[in-house]
Amino acid sequence: MAFPAAFMDELIARNPIDEVVGQYVQLKRSGTNYFGLCPFHGEKTPSFSVTPNKQMYYCFGCHKGGGVVNFIMEIEGLSYPDAVRFLAKRVNLEVPEDEHYQSQYKEQERLWRLCKDAARFYHELLRAEAGADARAYLLKRGLDWATVVKFGIGFAPDDFHCLLPAMTQKGYTEQELIAANLAAVSQKNSQNIYDRFRNRIMFPQIDLRGNVIGFAGRALDKDAKAKYINPTETLIFSKRKFLYAMNLAKKSKRPYIILCEGPMDAIACHQFGFDCAVASQGTALTEEQVNQISKFTDQVIMTYDNDAAGQNATQRAIQMFSRAGVKVKILQLHDAKDADEFLHKFGADPFDVLLQGSENQADYRLLSLQNQFDLTEDAQRVEFTAKAAELIASFSNAVEREIYADRAAKAAGISKDAMLLEAEKAFRKRIGREKRRREREDLSPATTSLPEDRHLRAEYANTRSARAEEQVIGLALVDSSMLELAPELNGSLFSAPFLGRAYDAMLALHRQGLQVSLAALQDFTPEESARLSAIAQRFDRVNGEQAFRDCVAVILEEYKKQNAGNTDEELLSFAKEMKKNKGYGGN
Ligand code: UTP
Ligand code: MN
Repeated sequence: MAFPAAFMDELIARNPIDEVVGQYVQLKRSGTNYFGLCPFHGEKTPSFSVTPNKQMYYCFGCHKGGGVVNFIMEIEGLSYPDAVRFLAKRVNLEVPEDEHYQSQYKEQERLWRLCKDAARFYHELLRAEAGADARAYLLKRGLDWATVVKFGIGFAPDDFHCLLPAMTQKGYTEQELIAANLAAVSQKNSQNIYDRFRNRIMFPQIDLRGNVIGFAGRALDKDAKAKYINPTETLIFSKRKFLYAMNLAKKSKRPYIILCEGPMDAIACHQFGFDCAVASQGTALTEEQVNQISKFTDQVIMTYDNDAAGQNATQRAIQMFSRAGVKVKILQLHDAKDADEFLHKFGADPFDVLLQGSENQADYRLLSLQNQFDLTEDAQRVEFTAKAAELIASFSNAVEREIYADRAAKAAGISKDAMLLEAEKAFRKRIGREKRRREREDLSPATTSLPEDRHLRAEYANTRSARAEEQVIGLALVDSSMLELAPELNGSLFSAPFLGRAYDAMLALHRQGLQVSLAALQDFTPEESARLSAIAQRFDRVNGEQAFRDCVAVILEEYKKQNAGNTDEELLSFAKEMKKNKGYGGN
């Protein structure tokens, strides 16, 4: 959704980027910039910059960047509108909401309150007489009462009408209970509405802001059809984005995150002092979850079950994490089926030892590959060799390749040189594949995100024009009065649609007399904002006016070339006029 530009102007003015970022990152001044350790990727020397006069941040390491709203989106894990609200709240500014959005937001607030009340209700029941068996069960599973309280664990009695009357009495409607997935409608009789969770231990699902947004329920009855009922999509709950216990883990001082399969595992970790554990709760890991984790750490230790399903899920996760730049280690548990069982059986110290020494992904992947084949059979050895070669070819480090080629060769009963030769072949095949993929991607420039000059050719259809377009935008972001130098220029004349869109948005702000900054540009994805800030950070005021004129001339010229036949004399003469003022050795 879009907020009124004047409101955004005020919001940005009242939330100076250095001040906002300064609350998360220790910044040191250096000239007109500030530098600090990037909060979005692990690093030891600062490559994260904040430039107050452009109201933007940019990391030279991970290439994240944007305005103050992007920063809050990234660091707090919020959507665009929620990040705007967050900043408004920070400075006590009232948010003008459009009607549709306002009603949706009100409904969200109702559901948040309902879920919180339901969590309290279930928790009280666990403390009450009715919860005796549930308490005994939790005790038997080794949970401290402090842990029960910390996670807000509750109990839903074996009763179809327990939560419903209690909540409707508090003023919530049946429709709201259904919308929050706390109640369901009978298929046989639509008049019959009943509690969704019965005879279950209740785990409130709490988001990064501390709102209760749903529940998972574990059956107390061994014969229950489903051991776990997980939360499903609602207005306030998104399965793809949620990780259980992330609200706690994000505050952990440990440099890694432990990823478990179920809530009981995450809870056990926390109870034993590993406060950086989260759980994916039986669903396949999504890109969103991986991204969320990558915001808080660059090291994940996975402890999924040892069964086939768990192993497959682990393989998939490794690839997703490595694409997001997160290192993965696999915790191999011996004599226990999961982290929960291990911790209660052996305690925190052996678990810590495992964490310290957990196998890195290369070890793990080679080993699990080995286990898939019967290496006493020749045919299987050949197949294993091919697969192992592919794996080894994917390691970027030559030493690593040597080591694992040696190991794989031993397992396959061949020479190391033969193994390395196979890896070399696999490597060339992969390079070929990647090159073709890149070529495909280059056809859609707005989706790639490496903004340096040498990538211009790969990213844009018209390199000459695009370089000028980037400069025009970069210069105008430093000094928006430049926009007045070229009244004839608008985004539709740009060769790169994404840059044209940015130019038009900037122009609109300037014409309304508003601040032109990255933060004020709405409707740009975080990737696009990061690209814009990468562009902006390359420019300074030096001889800006003439550079701007030169670039405008290039854009118009290129536009004419591309649109020959469609002669627009006015444009052409304007381009000439722009060129007359030459004096800057630009293009
Ligand atoms: P497990 O069956 O291994 O259960 O499923 P668990 O985690 O050890 O559970 P406890 O310790 O007996 O309580 C692993 C995870 O898969 C999901 C749950 O999130 C569970 O924690 N799962 C399992 C479901 O979503 N539904 C099910 O019916 C079973
Ligand atoms: Mn378990």
